[in-house]
Amino acid sequence: MKEALQGLKTMREFGPLSKIRLQNEKTPVATLIGVSTPTEVTLIVDPKIGRINPLELGELVVIDYPKEIIAEPVIAMISQINLVNENLIESLIKAPSSIERLKMLGNIEEGERLVATARILGYLDEKKGRIIAPRFPPSPGTKVHRAPSSILSKIFGRGHIAIGTLRSHKNVEVKLNVDELVSKHFAVLAITGAGKSYSVAVIVSKIIEKLQGAVVIIDPHEDYVPFNKNPHLKDKVVVFSAKRATGKQRIAFKLRNFNYGELLDLLSIPERATNQKDLFNRAYGKLMEQKVDWDLDDLKKAIEEVINDTEEKKEATRLNNAKYGLLARINQAPAKDILTKSSELPVYNPHGPSLVKPDQISIITLSGLDARTQQTIVDLLARKIFYAGQAKVRNEKTPNKLPCAVLIVVEEAHNFVPNNGYASRTLKQIGAEGRKFGVGLGLVSQRPGKLDSDVLSQCNTQIILRIVNPYDQQQILRSSESLSEDLLNDLPALNVGEAVIVGPSLLIPALVKISKFEGELGGRGVPITKSWKDALEKQKSSAVKPQRYEDDFDIH
Ligand SMILES: Nc1ncnc2c1ncn2[C@@H]1O[C@H](COP(=O)(O)OP(=O)(O)OP(=O)(O)O)[C@@H](O)[C@H]1O
Ligand SMILES: [Mg+2]
Repeated sequence: MKEALQGLKTMREFGPLSKIRLQNEKTPVATLIGVSTPTEVTLIVDPKIGRINPLELGELVVIDYPKEIIAEPVIAMISQINLVNENLIESLIKAPSSIERLKMLGNIEEGERLVATARILGYLDEKKGRIIAPRFPPSPGTKVHRAPSSILSKIFGRGHIAIGTLRSHKNVEVKLNVDELVSKHFAVLAITGAGKSYSVAVIVSKIIEKLQGAVVIIDPHEDYVPFNKNPHLKDKVVVFSAKRATGKQRIAFKLRNFNYGELLDLLSIPERATNQKDLFNRAYGKLMEQKVDWDLDDLKKAIEEVINDTEEKKEATRLNNAKYGLLARINQAPAKDILTKSSELPVYNPHGPSLVKPDQISIITLSGLDARTQQTIVDLLARKIFYAGQAKVRNEKTPNKLPCAVLIVVEEAHNFVPNNGYASRTLKQIGAEGRKFGVGLGLVSQRPGKLDSDVLSQCNTQIILRIVNPYDQQQILRSSESLSEDLLNDLPALNVGEAVIVGPSLLIPALVKISKFEGELGGRGVPITKSWKDALEKQKSSAVKPQRYEDDFDIH
């Protein structure tokens, strides 16, 4: 069979074909040929279907098993399509002239055959709500139909929230099972501009509207802040900021709850500053011994006291020299706004601002902070939530308990769980154990290849939009049990807003057109050439008199 298919051209090389659907769903479109296995079949497509209404990659078809073997329709997904001409087998064609000579013998186009491969997915057991894989291969010669919308609606309509429609069947809604999506974690992966944040916006807004869920979004670029303009969502959105800002709740952490290493990061005291670290360590030790809450002013006082209490003169001078640099770092620390003496943002407070609440989207903005500080804050927030999840499940006597399960969405996840050893330990822990404590993770990234592979492989549902980089594709393939190579090959051909979704949130993989998000979303990007044109026009209309650069200097 393989030899016979050698030299085939793929459908894409033949360019776009007409997409008018002429056949009704009951008409067979293909017949099984060659060798069938319980998981894969080869089919020859009816020539009438061929060019007029072609089968598409990723399209779902039904294989007619004998009713006494399997009563339900068995679904398969088209994984490869090849066009072969049996009059033009490669081994027979030695030169272009041989094609011309063959043409003289008759109409060689008649030998054209469309041959496809399909992966058998199984049949729906409605009672169990599962897809069962057949154990027996279908017989060669069996007829194949396009999958009817009625069956597909049963398979894809079982979840809680509709994320879009099947690309091949616009009338079939695809609904995600949110229990599976959140508890077994998910990843949204694609190149920039492919529709990741848009897809997350659809998911999160539906989780709120339909299920009154609890969501925390780590939003470094403030893409989700416009949610608070959306009439459906604005009362459910709380924006948190590490900086003081109007309209935003402040993220605050008690200094006493940090360990030495975390404070070094938060105060930007580098590894190499050994004297500063030493002085800080002694002052920190002094404060922690006192067993009372403290703030940065107390820290500065403790630093002075450590120096004053040092009797050895040389040592006191060494510490005193380090003091100025250390105080400058404390005064300028980008994270200093989040460090407080006693008031800490509660995980849950039924009567006030909380990080997690049912029917609430908490948007954590991080703009204006350097990468290291962002990582530390995200790890801290995640830890707070994770510990509160443990406290709830273990019924601990603490006010810091989660009120309910929560989904944490992490945008730009490659910055927080990178594969370079700097991954947030808490996010990794949530990936591994979050399910037990009601903490789910949704990672969003444009560079899957740079994500920690452990965490990525814990993200069981994968929503993959357009991806072109082969390294990123391979990383996805390695991390996903349900993504097959043939689906992966189709990723570069996806349009904006089209996604392959695989994993436990759906019974079988689907090629989905994500629905329209009813609301505003940031991160749309700047229309480059328009911005140049607009700026030039503005400049022209406002120019009163030409001004020389030197005019600004006092050089007379
Ligand atoms: N499902 C969709 N339907 C309609 N338009 C869409 C859809 N998905 C994305 N878009 C359009 O594409 C734009 C870019 O999408 P989005 O901001 O989600 O990209 P992204 O993958 O998050 O990019 P980045 O990596 O740069 O953050 C959106 O502003 C929107 O105009
Ligand atoms: Mg985005």
